[in-house]
Amino acid sequence: MVTKMDQYAVMGNPIAHSQSPRIHALFAAQTGQQLEYRAILVERGGFAEAARAFGEQGGQGLNVTAPFKQDAWVFADLLSAAAERAGAVNTLIFEAGGVRGDNTDGPGLVRDLTVNHDRALAGQRILVVGAGGAARGILQPLLLEKPGQLVIANRTPETALGLALRFGDLGRLSGCGFDDLVGLQFDLIINATTAWAQDTGPPLPEGVLASGGWCYDLSYGDGPSPFMRWGQGRGAGRVLDGLGMLVEQAAESFRLWRGIRPETPPIIEALRGARP
Ligand code: ATR
Repeated sequence: MVTKMDQYAVMGNPIAHSQSPRIHALFAAQTGQQLEYRAILVERGGFAEAARAFGEQGGQGLNVTAPFKQDAWVFADLLSAAAERAGAVNTLIFEAGGVRGDNTDGPGLVRDLTVNHDRALAGQRILVVGAGGAARGILQPLLLEKPGQLVIANRTPETALGLALRFGDLGRLSGCGFDDLVGLQFDLIINATTAWAQDTGPPLPEGVLASGGWCYDLSYGDGPSPFMRWGQGRGAGRVLDGLGMLVEQAAESFRLWRGIRPETPPIIEALRGARP
């Protein structure tokens, strides 16, 4: 008798370059779990239908990436507290009683910084650039680390202000436009915009990165991003891409689905080593 393996997938658009199938295959091999994980391209507007069909065919868990994290939030029957507040879901767990939604992006970022890079965040001055879905997913876990100051700066200042209101009860948080950053300094700047991915970054005032401060780009690609080069040109102590966060958020999803957390450093190393 042929037994069908447990089914998982990531849905997004575009999805062809997703590293998630590779990462989860490595996790499965490391932990001895039997599962299949694939990438599914979903048409815009078609998320709920695709996710429902996946569940009906026996699918057990989904990762959700751009542009469907808000659709997944609406789709879930039950939300974790973090996902509820973020307004975005990156992990769906299909259970007999319904579909649970969680968001592992922020915990993934915090773990990459605090464990993989040994960077304490308590008391630090942190700037998040961008106020879209990516920013929303990381604010609560960052605030739980008790930074000294957390500022969200965005091209559209109203969106940053809205986020500051939404999360403001969790810690010292404010929102502003880029011009309002003049005279401020940060120990860690996190790029959560899509802008610097296209070489046309939002203009941050000179002096905003403290001497030796760190730059962290939530995205990753081949070689340093324009934001990472911006940091390198301004004396950053460390300049990091989002590969570590990607693997950590995946490990957290894997734990939610399988009850076991893979060991991530060898996987991050394997992925880095395989890059051109
Ligand atoms: P994601 O889910 O990846 O965060 P998003 O929700 O579309 O994507 O958000 C994109 C973010 O990048 C927003 O903060 C956006 O700023 P606005 O709110 O002003 O749109 C920011 N962004 C995109 N292109 C930009 C550009 N050319 N200059 C500055 N910010 C930009």
